[in-house]
Parts: sequence; structure tokens; C-alpha cells
Amino acid sequence: MRAVCWHAKSDVRVDTVDDPKIQDPGDAIIRITSTAICGSDLHLYDGYMPTMEAGDIIGHEPMGVVEEIGKSVTKLKPGDRVVVPFAIACGRCWFCERSLYSLCDTSNPNAAIARAAMGQSPAALFGYSHMLGGFAGGQAEYFRVPYADVGPIKVPDGIPDEQVLFLSDIFPTGYMAAENAGIDSGDIVAIWGCGPVGQFAIRSAWMFGAGRVIAIDCVPERLRMAEAGKAETIDFQKESVYDRLMEMTNDRGPDRCIDCVGTEAHAGGSFDSILDKAKATVGLATDRAHVLREAILCCRKGGTVSVPGVYIGYPDKIPFGAAMNKALTLKMGQTHVQRYTEPLLKKIQDGEIDPAFVITHQIPLEEAPSAYKMFRDKTDECIKVVLKP
Ligand SMILES: NC(=O)c1ccc[n+]([C@@H]2O[C@H](COP(=O)([O-])OP(=O)(O)OC[C@H]3O[C@@H](n4cnc5c(N)ncnc54)[C@H](O)[C@@H]3O)[C@@H](O)[C@H]2O)c1
Ligand SMILES: [Zn+2]
Ligand SMILES: [Zn+2]
Repeated sequence: MRAVCWHAKSDVRVDTVDDPKIQDPGDAIIRITSTAICGSDLHLYDGYMPTMEAGDIIGHEPMGVVEEIGKSVTKLKPGDRVVVPFAIACGRCWFCERSLYSLCDTSNPNAAIARAAMGQSPAALFGYSHMLGGFAGGQAEYFRVPYADVGPIKVPDGIPDEQVLFLSDIFPTGYMAAENAGIDSGDIVAIWGCGPVGQFAIRSAWMFGAGRVIAIDCVPERLRMAEAGKAETIDFQKESVYDRLMEMTNDRGPDRCIDCVGTEAHAGGSFDSILDKAKATVGLATDRAHVLREAILCCRKGGTVSVPGVYIGYPDKIPFGAAMNKALTLKMGQTHVQRYTEPLLKKIQDGEIDPAFVITHQIPLEEAPSAYKMFRDKTDECIKVVLKP
């Protein structure tokens, strides 16, 4: 089959590889019909994620049709149409029992490596390094889904791929980010990053009762899409985010701050971000934490900072003293996707949201290498790419 393989920094290729096979009675093989490129894939593409190996199949936002099932699978049958969450969860461990699916204790066969790096291992993720399981990803013609009775959600025929595909990741991610922000009715919510995750965080913030949503980025078409989602916007290259947010909130600061940028924040010319960039370039640091710092400093006293943006290692100069003394709540994590797929599918079916709004490009899988470059460099007004195997 054909699959998108990581080879090195800025080097992904579409290779011919072996077809996946059932390896465990709980597995299913899915024939992929649509699969998206995520901002998290850019951390691989830009060479920030450790334990990647040349030839690894990447991708974690897939959907398709069940081709084959293992002996113990009861909830799926060949021919079913499914969307597959990016985090792999067993459904039975202490964490899965508490719906903390992205923290599953069983799914990562390489848990020892993750444990050494993080103290404990989170769940395995599709196509996201050996430290996080070494599972082949879903930017391919077919892929193997372990614990097939737990993750995949069946979707009815008649609803197009484009409307349900993002149940695999970015819609639940934006939604959990807004939920983690603890929004009270009428709150002012500031959202850093108007990429796909930021776009879904904006729309989800309204669902949780936000009174005002302020979105921050520097890319014109992304700011325009945020405005279409009824957000007020700040261009961080044109004005000081802190000054503008204070002006907009009577000096109090936004009640809830959401970091939808993560480890690859751009330097807005600020001293801390230039230092980050220099350190990352010479390998002294992996994370560029400018947005996390700014969110902590801008947040109103007693407010919440919610972090769906991915951090990898040891970001430094985090104003933890400010977070402590301002009594902030910090909430974060890889998304517990399985917890949200059913309720968010219902919102789509009820017409409350059509997630397809975020798609700017639909491209054959074979063109993945140029699509990665376009998405990273934000050329051709690219916001979200769907690949078609
Ligand atoms: N927690 C999860 O489970 C989960 C799931 C999916 C994605 N993510 C993470 O969410 C983040 C966003 O993903 P995406 O797909 O939207 O990626 P993206 O790269 O398309 O979007 C990031 C946006 O942040 C903007 N940005 C950069 N520096 C900024 C700054 N200083 N201030 C404001 N905006 C700035 C960029 O211009 C870009 O539009 C990534 O870190 C990704 O890894 C997390
Ligand atoms: Zn993702
Ligand atoms: Zn589990």
C-alpha cells in the first residue's frame, strides 16, 4: 500500500510499504477514505519529536471503512464506516474506566521509554514516535486499529466524510480545551492560535456560554476565519497582545485563556521568544513557550489557563510565580477523544456545527509532501488539509 512516511526533518515521502495485518484478536483493519494533517504532525515534520525513525508511517486523523476484524471484535463488522480517535485506549484500565483515554495505562508497548522521560507513560498515539507506541499512523491507504471495540465511532451513511472526519482529533480537542477552561456564562475567553484547533476552541467557547471570544494570531486568513466564528481578533505582529487585552478587559485580563499554539510559537519580536528560538536552533531547548508565558501573564487573577497546544520537553522561563500568586488554574492534556465522539457527532447531526468549514485543501495522498510544506509555511491560504488515499 501507499503511506506517508517520516524520513527526517522536513522530509516526508509517500512510500510503498507492506499492508497492515491483524496482529491481535481485538484489531481491525480500516481502508482509509479521508485523513487529515494536524498541527501536531508539524512537530514531527519540524524535527522536534524524539524517537522518530526513518520510515515511520505518520498521521492520526483518519476515517474509513472496516475491511477486516479480529476474532474478539464485537462492535464493528466489515463495511462499517468509522472515524478513529488519535489516542489508543484499552477501555479497561484504571484511567480508561475514568474516561481519561489519552492516559491509558496499557496501550503503549514502549511505556518504559515514556516513563523515563515523563515519570509515567501516557497512552500510545497513532503515528507519533516510538516513545508513544511506535504504531503506524493513518496517512495511508489502510491501517491497523488496536482495541477496535473501544476507539472507532461508527458514522451513518449519508453524512459526508468532511463533516465527521475531525471527530478524530481537532473538534474534540477544541471542545475539551474550552471545557478545561471552565467557562462561566458571560466570561471573556482569549484564544491564542487560529489554526484548526484554535478555530474549534472558538466555536466551542460559545457552546460553553462565553460572553466574548478574543482570538490571537498573525495570519490574515486565519484571523478572518476566527471573525467568521464571531471572535474579536488581535494580530500579534501589529500590536502588543498584553496591552490590547488589558484595554479590552478594563485592565482585569481575560477570565479564561486557551493556548492553541504549543511548542512552536512564533517570535513576536519579544525577548523571550528570540531566546527560545536561538536555544531550539542549537538544541538547548525543544519548546518555544512564548504563548504559555503570555497567557499566564494576561489571565485575570483567579482565572484559568487551558493548554491544548502540545509541549514536548522542558520549556523554561515559565512565570510560575505569577501563576501561583494570581491563583490561576492550569488544565491541559492530549484530548480524551473517545469521551467526546458521541456527543459531538450528535451536535453535527443536529446541525449545531459543520466542522467542514475549516477545510481549505483536499488533495490526493500522493501529494502529501508538498501539502506538509504548504501547511507548515501557511502558503496558498492553507488552514486544513484533507488527504484522499
Ligand atoms: N491536546 C491535543 O490533544 C492536541 C490535538 C491536536 C493538536 N494539538 C496541538 O494544538 C496546537 C495547534 O494545532 P493546529 O492544528 O491548530 O496547528 P497550526 O500550526 O495550524 O496552528 C498554530 C497557530 O498558532 C499561530 N501562532 C504562532 N505563534 C503565535 C503567537 N505567538 N501568538 C498567537 N498565535 C500564534 C500560528 O500562526 C498558527 O496559526 C499544536 O501544538 C498541536 O500540536 C493538540
Ligand atoms: Zn492531532
Ligand atoms: Zn486503558
